[in-house]
Amino acid sequence: MKKRNVIFWAIFFVLTPFIGNCAETGKFQYENFKQPKKCGVCHSEIYQEWQQCLMSQSFTHEWDQVEYFKLALPHALKLEKVSGVKGGCIACHGPLAFLSGDIPPKPAEAGTRANEGVSCEICHNITGTTEEVPFNFSFTIEPDKVKQGPRADAKSPSHGVKYSEFTRSPELCATCHDEQSPYGAWVKETYREWKAGPYADKGTRCQDCHMYHSPGKAAFGGKKRADLAHHSFHGSHFSSKLAGAVDLALYTKKTDISPGSTLKLRAELFNGKVGHYIPSGSTEERMLWLEVQAIDATGKGYQIPVNRKGFEGEEYTIADSGAMAYQSMGEIIEIKGFKGIKRDGNCPDGVRIFRRPFFDPKGRMTICQWYTAANTSVDYRIGPMETKIENYTWAIPENISPGPVTIKASLFYSQVPSSVGEFLELPADEYAPILVNTTTLTMDVK
Ligand code: HEC
Ligand code: HEC
Ligand code: HEC
Ligand code: HEC
Ligand code: HEC
Repeated sequence: MKKRNVIFWAIFFVLTPFIGNCAETGKFQYENFKQPKKCGVCHSEIYQEWQQCLMSQSFTHEWDQVEYFKLALPHALKLEKVSGVKGGCIACHGPLAFLSGDIPPKPAEAGTRANEGVSCEICHNITGTTEEVPFNFSFTIEPDKVKQGPRADAKSPSHGVKYSEFTRSPELCATCHDEQSPYGAWVKETYREWKAGPYADKGTRCQDCHMYHSPGKAAFGGKKRADLAHHSFHGSHFSSKLAGAVDLALYTKKTDISPGSTLKLRAELFNGKVGHYIPSGSTEERMLWLEVQAIDATGKGYQIPVNRKGFEGEEYTIADSGAMAYQSMGEIIEIKGFKGIKRDGNCPDGVRIFRRPFFDPKGRMTICQWYTAANTSVDYRIGPMETKIENYTWAIPENISPGPVTIKASLFYSQVPSSVGEFLELPADEYAPILVNTTTLTMDVK
């Protein structure tokens, strides 16, 4: 063989496994993948855990259905630039449908196998990635009788088992948890945030915080393990995972105050538990905000606005009930004369919002991540091991009642701005505020 041919075939054979198995629509059939309940026969605890978490609901979950069928799909059919999301959304949210070429899939009520979401057969047949730093469903997959797993000594009567470094790695998660929009903006980068932060250096993986480990058996008939990997995958949809995720403290010099004077307060927020920014993931729609309120002896409450710091784009981080946004939704749904809806939901005016706003190609704030052209101009989230300090100056009213005053700071999180939730008629629990932390100080009015 000529030297050139040798090089050609060498390259061909090296690349073929990737070309052959990369996530591509229509490459496989639903029948190539077993149903999770079949795995659950032997892996019953893991199956229960998976059923409760968002992985099993990634397609059927109401908000995902609404965003795909009411916004993204109609937009993909209308605007060439975003046409790829017709299948793109499904590659991560209903991978069986994507891999089987069932695009667009039928809505959840039709009961197709898209409904299985991110199933056992997705993660345990993924063999690697085509990218150096994975994103946008760049996994390679081999639906097969051999399951990729974390242990070299596992033996199963029902399937082969192959030890996979990739299954154990955060890069597995990155294939779906990092995403670039058709405009080239990074619209999800949990893996990249983790990688740049302190936990990657320490070797604390996504799996260590989101799949806790304890002694137990992975399967009926399996070996007893000291560190069985649970499939909890708890994130912001579990209030128990959010509770206390950020430490919160309030400080002031004074112990008593007088009517008509001013009180200076300092709030300190420390992210010592989240391995990436909070919020992370779908940051276009996540809101984290701090309300600071004084409550006097009669129970009357006064909302204390945060002091401005003066950084560029700060206005997006301070709640303003007059600010409108999300106009692109009205264009997609075709509502004449749509002026947008309230940017900050029902957040009280003057409250600090820890967020990263996304902007559409027309420069308006948007929750349509696929229609995002820019999102790096303002990023006021709390990074891993980062502390944010917020200052407050309260002008104490002349007529405040004497007696004890309680200053209460409460940190709330919501999946979606309530204004967007109401507009799209989502179930209220999709956007109800969740308490992350709270603290109080008491002093006397003299
Ligand atoms: C989102 C990806 C994902 C999904 C979905 C998933 N797994 Fe896993 N699974 C993993 C990862 C990652 C590990 C290894 C964890 C580690 O390295 O600590 C694992 C480990 C396992 C193990 C070995 C546990 C041990 O510690 O010995 C079994 C068995 C298993 N999974 C079965 C299942 C079954 C059954 C389902 C469906 C009900 C499922 N998995 C769904 C990612 C997934
Ligand atoms: C007949 C019972 C049975 C069924 C059905 C079954 N498994 Fe297993 N599986 C086992 C046993 C036993 C082990 C070994 C567990 C051990 O030794 O820790 C195992 C191990 C695994 C592992 C872990 C490998 C490792 O490296 O630790 C994965 C992943 C896995 N199974 C996935 C699946 C998936 C996905 C399905 C459904 C398509 C499935 N299993 C169906 C019995 C079963
Ligand atoms: C095949 C794609 C895919 C892979 C691989 C994947 N995920 Fe996910 N993950 C998703 C999707 C889609 C959602 C969003 C579910 C929803 O809310 O609709 C999600 C949601 C989550 C959540 C949020 C749950 C919540 O309560 O809000 C966590 C945490 C998570 N994944 C962790 C992981 C970890 C850790 C890994 C790697 C071991 C991983 N994921 C691998 C697709 C994936
Ligand atoms: C040190 C522990 C830790 C590590 C490491 C970690 N996480 Fe998290 N993660 C958390 C906590 C705590 C939360 C809940 C707070 C929140 O929602 O931000 C969370 C939330 C999430 C969410 C929900 C984000 C949101 O706001 O909706 C996703 C998705 C997620 N993690 C994925 C990952 C992935 C992928 C990795 C690895 C690249 C990872 N996590 C590494 C602790 C960790
Ligand atoms: C590269 C994989 C990927 C692609 C492509 C993708 N998503 Fe997601 N999506 C995720 C992950 C991972 C999460 C979870 C992040 C988090 O918890 O914040 C998520 C979260 C969401 C959520 C929030 C769910 C909730 O309960 O709060 C919605 C809605 C959503 N995606 C819809 C879409 C739509 C519509 C598209 C297509 C325009 C799309 N996604 C494309 C991976 C992807």
